[in-house]
Amino acid sequence: MASKQMVHMNQGQGETSYAHNSSFQSAEQNRMKALIEAAVVELCSNTTTLSHGKVVIADLGCSSGPNAVALVSIALEATHSHFLQLRQPPPEVCVLLNDLPYNDFNAVVKSLVAVRQIGEPVVVTGVVPGSFYERLFPSGSVHLFCSSNSLHWLSKAPEDLRMKQIPAYDMDENVRRERLPVVAGAYARQFKKDFTLFLQLRAKELVPEGRMVVSLPGRRSDEPVTETSLIWGTAAQILGAMASEVNTSFTF
Ligand SMILES: C[S@@+](CC[C@H](N)C(=O)[O-])C[C@H]1O[C@@H](n2cnc3c(N)ncnc32)[C@H](O)[C@@H]1O
Repeated sequence: MASKQMVHMNQGQGETSYAHNSSFQSAEQNRMKALIEAAVVELCSNTTTLSHGKVVIADLGCSSGPNAVALVSIALEATHSHFLQLRQPPPEVCVLLNDLPYNDFNAVVKSLVAVRQIGEPVVVTGVVPGSFYERLFPSGSVHLFCSSNSLHWLSKAPEDLRMKQIPAYDMDENVRRERLPVVAGAYARQFKKDFTLFLQLRAKELVPEGRMVVSLPGRRSDEPVTETSLIWGTAAQILGAMASEVNTSFTF
């Protein structure tokens, strides 16, 4: 749940920071590479979209650490190599990174300096603090939106559950099972509301024929076993990393 005031991933570069604990999310970003590259080629091949020779790329829910600049770096490199192949000068590129205000933007700004050093064609970089459930950019100004592992954060807890004081996860297993349809239904409705709003806002901010590549975790079925296996998969990864640190081998 994303409360605009306080919520953020662990800041800095320490052992428990998001920067050092986001390899699972980074794997998801790598799966988006081909989609982002295809979107860039489509954008760059469209003379109407690039009529002014400028491209604005934004990542929504960037967090901090290496993942914060991973998607925009893929887009930049794809832009660069597209124009290199055509032997044409690249467009000017503006890279903008968004997250909630309490995100570690100090770290993000340092990463952005490194992005500029990738070289041509980046000319402007910046951060845009705020919620992606609100307007963030001027109308018709962004060519490519990217977002990974962020859109499952809702704008708020479902109102009906809050009013009935029903928690998302009741410690009592029987109560939890009994309420599962009510809780899952309320969260699904909230997600639908939030995601629809997100799409409406971005539709205003995109240039005509702009592109958006987003990825978020989800489940294909209501079957709780799917959820359980995902949790065990993550737990197995964490335990595996801990085991490798103490040089012990485990079998999961
Ligand atoms: C799990 S991190 C993902 C970070 C990065 N994109 C990645 O793939 O590793 C989710 C990020 O989304 C941000 N976030 C959540 N709700 C948001 C909102 N409404 N507006 C902007 N950012 C949001 C959080 O602050 C957090 O940094």
